[in-house]
Amino acid sequence: MAIWNLGSINIDHVYRLDHLPRPGETLAASRYVQGLGGKGANQSVAAACAGADTHHLGAMGQADDWVIDRLSRRGVVTTDILRMADQATGHAIILLDGQAENAIVIHPGANRALTPAMLADPLSEIAAGDTLLIQNETSCQVEAARAARQAGARVIYSAAPFDIAAVRAILPHVSILAMNAGEAEALFAAIPGDLPVEGLLITRGGEGAEYRDLTTGTVHRQAAFPVDPVDTTGAGDTFAGYFAASLDRGEAIPQALRLASAAAALKVTRHGAGEAIPTRAEVLDFLAARPADQPSE
Ligand SMILES: Nc1ncnc2c1ncn2[C@@H]1O[C@H](COP(=O)(O)OP(=O)(O)O)[C@@H](O)[C@H]1O
Ligand SMILES: [Mg+2]
Repeated sequence: MAIWNLGSINIDHVYRLDHLPRPGETLAASRYVQGLGGKGANQSVAAACAGADTHHLGAMGQADDWVIDRLSRRGVVTTDILRMADQATGHAIILLDGQAENAIVIHPGANRALTPAMLADPLSEIAAGDTLLIQNETSCQVEAARAARQAGARVIYSAAPFDIAAVRAILPHVSILAMNAGEAEALFAAIPGDLPVEGLLITRGGEGAEYRDLTTGTVHRQAAFPVDPVDTTGAGDTFAGYFAASLDRGEAIPQALRLASAAAALKVTRHGAGEAIPTRAEVLDFLAARPADQPSE
């Protein structure tokens, strides 16, 4: 089966400065790094690295071809990514000072300029048994989820960045709702009753993850693998992409949790977002060295 991902593509521009600029001040950066981010791009890379036939649905401006190259090199099918003449590729300007304080400007650009008409063709290709991933960084979330469910696909929605209005709107069309601990807390505070989904995937950083099967009431828990974290950017996206790819292969929830947890553990030992997501071979090696470690229950 295929994984489709209606997801954001963001270029991160990271500038290191002596101090954050004050109004009216002009500063030269001492260092500049450009990276590929966006929850969407990260989840596509993770799902493709995990071995799934992964199609990214999204949009960019007309420049920045390197982004397409990088996604394709990680195995993502990029032919459905639209190039918009009147929009910039989504990006983040990240300013860092010497004390690790930051100031960030995000421009969603093409990510939020997608219209349902632009997605009609790829959405019509989604078939029964496929999976659609969505996060809260693009337009057309509800339209895409509805179309995928009507086609008989599984819809996994990452409620991040968290916005309760966006969750409420898409919830009737979601199969699995994925959240980190903070997002889950915000969700349960806003919607205390039953949720109309099959399952909840809740990740808790270094404390592991759980999947609550709401159809049976079973809770599957997976401990985090003990590692020395250096950068947790994209941990949740790595987890979500690997988890989806595992279900897509027909694996059961405990296996999916264990694989995703190992992938995310490896990711946090590396700096960066998309470029730090491990391959399936690396994840399997990591797991092979830990045969009976961290059983799920
Ligand atoms: N310090 C850590 N050690 C090991 N695994 C981690 C660590 N931090 C995160 N992970 C893994 O990444 C997953 C997602 O992290 P989490 O912080 O919950 O998501 P998000 O990136 O969305 O905030 C966790 O469930 C865990 O498997
Ligand atoms: Mg976190």
